[in-house]
Amino acid sequence: MKRTRSIVRGIGSYLPKRKLTNQDLEKLVDTSHEWIVQRTGIEERYIADDSETTSILGIKAAEAALADAGLRADDIDLVICATSTPDYTFPSTATMIQTGIGMTHGAAFDLQAVCTGFVYAVATADKFLRSGSHKRALVVGAETFSRILDWNDRTTCVLFGDGAGALVLEAQEGEGTSADRGVLTSHLRSDGRYRDKLYVDGGPGSTKTTGVLKMEGKEVFKFAVGMVADVVQDAFKATGTSAEELDWFVPHQANRRIITASADKLGIAQEKVVITVNKHGNTSAASIPLALDAARKDGRIKDGDLVMIEAIGGGFTWGSALIRW
Ligand code: ACO
Repeated sequence: MKRTRSIVRGIGSYLPKRKLTNQDLEKLVDTSHEWIVQRTGIEERYIADDSETTSILGIKAAEAALADAGLRADDIDLVICATSTPDYTFPSTATMIQTGIGMTHGAAFDLQAVCTGFVYAVATADKFLRSGSHKRALVVGAETFSRILDWNDRTTCVLFGDGAGALVLEAQEGEGTSADRGVLTSHLRSDGRYRDKLYVDGGPGSTKTTGVLKMEGKEVFKFAVGMVADVVQDAFKATGTSAEELDWFVPHQANRRIITASADKLGIAQEKVVITVNKHGNTSAASIPLALDAARKDGRIKDGDLVMIEAIGGGFTWGSALIRW
């Protein structure tokens, strides 16, 4: 039976100008390049300066995605920005991106699911497009996690970086099979009982401050692999596809060991796994579109390829989406 699909029309990303290497971090906290690489796979990350706010990074990524799609702001009627580091408590970063790209019509809103934000945003945009209410969505993941880090805490400050990525999705009719292009399925989960494992200790409604990131790294690690595997299996089941049929596995880029262990558990060959955590660190909601853009631009992801995205983040939140490019 024919059904509306959300097709990928374009992708783009943007990184701040300043690169921060592990060697640079050795000068800030008691750490070493070897420790960081061995535990996380991270070699370097990008850190935004004061002028490079989340919305600025998001605008640059959105403009790159529009150019890749061959579209203009006038062609878009929905902007969703996944972020946990908005420029302001309000207005939303999405409305600032909307203005930044010169768009005065349609709707724009932020979505907050921490590192799972981009998967949540793709799933949400897909539901808007399939409902028929909107035609083309700009889905942005943009973060400046450097602003919410305790730069004296070596257990967290070495892990994160800043950046943004954006995807243009367009409603088109498909045949209703897994051979269709577009978002084939999405699966979102959350469980607020895990809030103390990964959180920011401030906010407008509690401390009236921004707060800094706190994480029980070992605990997050313990849950991550199982949760990720569950939602990826859900996506395979819903579409009748399998790990063998997958062309690319593009997970949230938090830690190379979590990524590798997840792929192994799911029976996904390591050569199908896209890894950018070595270059970008953990950029939260921006990590998946940054990785998708890297793999698209270097020729790995081709039209028609089957691509699984997945993430776990604070909350906990977790989710997956299977996309035929
Ligand atoms: N440099 C050197 N030593 C360090 C550092 C550092 N940067 N950080 C911690 N250590 C030390 C610890 O103090 C500890 O020393 P001790 O044994 O003397 O007490 C030792 O290294 C081991 O620390 P652990 O925390 O046990 O190290 P572990 O192997 O668990 O690695 C890590 C830590 C990398 C954080 C890991 O637990 C991890 O990756 N967890 C998942 C984190 C994650 O993915 N978070 C993102 C989720 S997404 C989101 O929503 C933000």
